[in-house]
Amino acid sequence: MKRLAREGLVLVIAVIPFLTNGIVQAPAASAQGGGDIGRGRALYDGRCGGCHSLDVNRTGPRHRGVIGRRVASTDGYDYSPALRRVGGVWTPDRLDAWLQGPQRMAPGSRMYLTVPDTNQRRDIIAYLATTDGSER
Ligand code: HEC
Repeated sequence: MKRLAREGLVLVIAVIPFLTNGIVQAPAASAQGGGDIGRGRALYDGRCGGCHSLDVNRTGPRHRGVIGRRVASTDGYDYSPALRRVGGVWTPDRLDAWLQGPQRMAPGSRMYLTVPDTNQRRDIIAYLATTDGSER
């Protein structure tokens, strides 16, 4: 009888990781599908908002509709020659690379901040993707 109880306990302990795995994996899986917009907005306000805003050029260029926009292309912002040389269009992948190392992507750029955390980058990019030019 005692032995049976012990075996039951072992079984329960063995099953717990499977159950919690399911719970823990679910948000990660949805983040993969584009990140958490609410968290991204909060991160954007906290980490980027000191230099950037959606609609006004500040220390950094304005960001509304940045995904799909040509790199270094907002009117009235004086970009560094380094960023102007990059060319092409901002995609989620390129933003991800930029946020891992602006100086690696455009050596001599005037932005230095990096976001080392993969999930935070994904959330910020998901938020920026919602700011297309139409919702002014
Ligand atoms: C300390 C100031 C500062 C902070 C904080 C900052 N940036 Fe920047 N950012 C800049 C500057 C300055 C530039 C222009 C760089 C250049 O011309 O070389 C820039 C440029 C950019 C560009 C290029 C835009 C374009 O029009 O091509 C993107 C995208 C960008 N930043 C995203 C971010 C994000 C996202 C964050 C927050 C995680 C962030 N930045 C935080 C200063 C900052």
